[in-house]
Amino acid sequence: MTHPLWPLFDLRIVTPHLELRLPADDELASLCALAREGIHDPSWMPFGYGWTDLPSPAFERGFAQYHWSRRAEWRPEHWSLDLMVSLDGEPIGMQGVYARDFPTLRTVSSGSWLGRTFQGRSLGKEMRGAVLHLAFAGLGADVALTEAFTDNLASIGVSRAVGYEENGTGRLARRGAASDTLRFRLTRERWAALQRPEVRIEGLEACSICSGRRGADDPHQAAGPRRADDPHQAAGPRRVAPTRPRGSLPSCRTCRGGTVTPVRAGRGPTATTALRPRRSARAGPRAATGSIRPRAGRAPSCTRHTVPRVQVLQDRRSRRVARRGRGEV
Ligand SMILES: CC(C)(COP(=O)(O)OP(=O)(O)OC[C@H]1O[C@@H](n2cnc3c(N)ncnc32)[C@H](O)[C@@H]1OP(=O)(O)O)[C@@H](O)C(=O)NCCC(=O)NCCS
Repeated sequence: MTHPLWPLFDLRIVTPHLELRLPADDELASLCALAREGIHDPSWMPFGYGWTDLPSPAFERGFAQYHWSRRAEWRPEHWSLDLMVSLDGEPIGMQGVYARDFPTLRTVSSGSWLGRTFQGRSLGKEMRGAVLHLAFAGLGADVALTEAFTDNLASIGVSRAVGYEENGTGRLARRGAASDTLRFRLTRERWAALQRPEVRIEGLEACSICSGRRGADDPHQAAGPRRADDPHQAAGPRRVAPTRPRGSLPSCRTCRGGTVTPVRAGRGPTATTALRPRRSARAGPRAATGSIRPRAGRAPSCTRHTVPRVQVLQDRRSRRVARRGRGEV
């Protein structure tokens, strides 16, 4: 059954002991309470952004806002999947998997935490194995990266135990001081050759919104290279851009549903043009109108398919927040 609003609520990853899925809001509250009880010794910090240092109620507000923002800012090419980890139906922690420019880079990173009473029982390995299975077998990733402070032996232990190779060092701020990190990398080929516990994915079709697959229902999908071994990309007909008859006016390069007609030069260096829908597109839902700014050498975009400057800035900011907010480091 597909969730009417957000198909990723149907995704489930099942391992021998655990189930991973997106939490609903009441489950987020349970996870937040678990995190508040303690994830680590307060004298030490495993995360780059010290979200566990925050006092209540900033802790609770920040926790909820982080998870809501991950959903709200979802894009096929930049996404964060923060999954609740349950043991015998009880939430015990979170395992995240993240990607930027996924259709092109095919690379994921990860972050995680467990309530303290659940640590040191090999569950960290099992939940990391679950999202690696999702990434490699489900989404067609090529590479998984991760990073941990050099004194985070449990996180480093998980990365080594599930097969990552060392990939150099890094440096991040932690509680206002520079701290060294160890980086790890796992390729699809290496992962495929490893002995792994059984993992089952349910509702994988919900992940088509992760893969950047071109879909008729989502004009914002990025055009990633088509891969024969990617079940999401291989499925469904490829959209072929209609050719424009010679002499006709250009249309939006994404939806092709409008025609661009120059009107008059606006203020500033770029001429402003108006987008007038084609007759065939006027009746449809994509019959958007608005101003556009054509760029030299490229077909123009209508307002619907132009990422506004303010959105670009918001994305940059939220990526910075996300990097700090993740459990990764
Ligand atoms: C990181 C974390 C998710 C790992 O989960 P876990 O269930 O504790 O780890 P596991 O029991 O699966 O152990 C994984 C490996 O690390 C080793 N390990 C675990 N804790 C260790 C410790 N304190 N010191 C040394 N090795 C340790 C284990 O021996 C195991 O290796 P092995 O299979 O070769 O024996 C969990 O410890 C945690 O939530 N820590 C606090 C938050 C955090 O650090 N998040 C990650 C930020 S990068």
